[in-house]
Amino acid sequence: MAKTTAPTTRRPTLPAPYTPTLTSRFHELISACFTGIWVQTHEPHEAAREITDLCRAENWRLGIWNCDSGVQFPVEQIAIPGVTETQDPLAVIRAMPQVSHGSGTTVLLFENLHRFLGSVELIQAIARQAITGKHNRAFIVVLAPVTQIPPELDKLFVCLDHDLPDHAQLEEIARGVATQDGELPDPDELPRVIDAAKGLTRSEAENAYSLSLVRHGTLKAETLWEIKAGQLKKSGLVSIHRGTESFDQLGGLDNLKAFCLRAMRRQSEGTVSNRPRGVLLLSPPGCGKSQFAKALGNETGRPTVVLDVGALLGSLVGQSESNVRAALKLADAMAPCVLMADEVEKALAGSNSSGQSDSGVTARVFGSLLTWLNDHESDVFFVGTCNDASKLPPEFARAERFDGVFFVDLPGRDQKDAIWGIYTRHYGLDAKQARPDDANWTGAEIKSCCRLASLLDVPLVQAAQNVVPVAVTAGDKIEGLRQWASGRCLSADRAGVYSRLEAGSGGRMRRVVRELGVKQTSDFSRSPPASR
Ligand SMILES: Nc1ncnc2c1ncn2[C@@H]1O[C@H](COP(=O)(O)OP(=O)(O)OP(=O)(O)O)[C@@H](O)[C@H]1O
Ligand SMILES: [Mg+2]
Repeated sequence: MAKTTAPTTRRPTLPAPYTPTLTSRFHELISACFTGIWVQTHEPHEAAREITDLCRAENWRLGIWNCDSGVQFPVEQIAIPGVTETQDPLAVIRAMPQVSHGSGTTVLLFENLHRFLGSVELIQAIARQAITGKHNRAFIVVLAPVTQIPPELDKLFVCLDHDLPDHAQLEEIARGVATQDGELPDPDELPRVIDAAKGLTRSEAENAYSLSLVRHGTLKAETLWEIKAGQLKKSGLVSIHRGTESFDQLGGLDNLKAFCLRAMRRQSEGTVSNRPRGVLLLSPPGCGKSQFAKALGNETGRPTVVLDVGALLGSLVGQSESNVRAALKLADAMAPCVLMADEVEKALAGSNSSGQSDSGVTARVFGSLLTWLNDHESDVFFVGTCNDASKLPPEFARAERFDGVFFVDLPGRDQKDAIWGIYTRHYGLDAKQARPDDANWTGAEIKSCCRLASLLDVPLVQAAQNVVPVAVTAGDKIEGLRQWASGRCLSADRAGVYSRLEAGSGGRMRRVVRELGVKQTSDFSRSPPASR
C-alpha cells in the first residue's frame, strides 16, 4: 500500500540570477515534485549528459533506459537485478519502487518512450507511477524528439524544450574544435561564423566546424551556411534561401525598400522593445513580394529563412502545433535573419472556423504564430506575403503586430519601364525594340515575356502573344484586393497610405498624404541606406 505522507518538495537552490537552461528548469521541476517530465530534444545524449551532471551534483539516483541497452546507472555504477538488463519499459516502470532509494530522489530517463505509448498497460502503469512518485520522489522523464503525450497522461506530464545551443555555447564548441594556431578566425570574423552556426544542434555544429577546418584550415561562415541549409531542409519546415537577389533587380517598391532598410539599420543594436517586427505584404500574384523578401536578406547581410506554412499543418493531430513551435524556435535560433512566410492566408484560412473543419488545428497554429509575432525577442524580421486579404483573420493584420502592412499594386508606368530595363538587360535583348501593350501587366509577366523572347528568339511584341496577364484571368479578385487595401495599407511605392480612388484603373496611385503618424507619412526613400 502506498505511504500517505505529504509530497516531499524542496526549495530550489539555484543561484540567482535565474537562467532558464535545461538544467535549471529541470531542477525547478524536480524540486517542485513534478513526477512526469517530457523533454523534447533532438539531442537526447546531450540532454542526458546535462541531466546526469545535475543528478551527480545533487546526489540524485539516476537511471537511463533505452530499448537497446536496458537501464544504466551513470552516477552510482550500480546494478539492480531484474531491472538493469530490462528492455521492456513496462517492467522498468513497474520496478520503479525497487529502484527508488530511501527518502532520496530517483530520476528514470526513458529515451524515445513515445514509440511504446500505444500500449494501454504501459500508459496505466505510468499514470500510477506518476501519482505514487509524488510520495517517494521517483520521477519519470521522457526524452523524445516530439511531444506526443497520450490524453490519459496529459495532465500528469509537464513539457520542457531542450533548446538549441546559444551563441556562447556555439562559441565554446568552436573553441573546442579549432585548437591549432590560425584555425580560429579573427575576433571580427568570429561572431559571423558563430551566427552562421545558429540553429544547428551541438553535434551538427561540431561536425560543421570540423568540415570547415578540413576544407579551409579555418572556420568559415560559408561552410556552416552550406551545412545548415542541408540540415534545415531535412526539417521540412524551414529552409535557408541563399540567392543573389538585390533591390537593384526589383523595379519600383521604393517606399517598401526604404522603410525596411531604415527599420533594420540598427536592428541588432536596438533594445528588445524597439526592435522592428516585420511587414505584411499584400498584392496580386507576381508583383514581386517573394522576390522582395529574398532580396531584403541580401541587402541587410542576413540569411532569408523561408517558413513553409503548408508543411506546418502536418497531417497528424497534434503535430501541427509542435511543428509551428519547432519552426519558430529554429527561426529564433537563426537570428539575426529575415523570416519569410509566403501566402500566409492559405494556411491560416481555417483559423476562423473555431475548429469546425479541422478540430481547431489551424486556429491553434495561427494562435502560436500571433503569440510569437507579439512576443519574440530574437532579432528576426518577419516578412509575410498574402494574395487574398479576405481569408486573412482580422487580428493578424492589426496595428502593432507588424511595423507596416503594405499593398503592392500592379506596377505603374515608371515601375514597368524599370522592370523592362532589368529583364531586357538580364536576357540580353535589344532594349530599344518596340514593346508590347503592357497595360495591367505584373512584373512576373514582363519577366516572362522577356524570357520567352530570348528563348524563342522572337521580338518582344511577338513573345507577348503567349502572355496572359493575371489581371485578365483574375480581374475581379484584383479589384477586390485593391478595394480592401484602400485606406488600410501603406503603399509600397510612395510614402503614404494606398488609396484606390487615386490609383485610377491603369496602375499605381498618386501619392496620398494623410496624417497617420510618423511611420506612415515619412518619406523613407530619402533616408540613408542600411549599413550592410
Ligand atoms: N517589381 C519587380 N521587379 C523585378 N522583377 C519582378 C517585379 N515583380 C515581379 N518580378 C519578377 O516576377 C517573378 C515573380 O515574382 P514574385 O514571386 O516575387 O511574386 P509574388 O508577388 O511573390 O507572387 P505570388 O503572389 O504568386 O507568390 C519573379 O521572378 C520576380 O523577379
Ligand atoms: Mg510569392
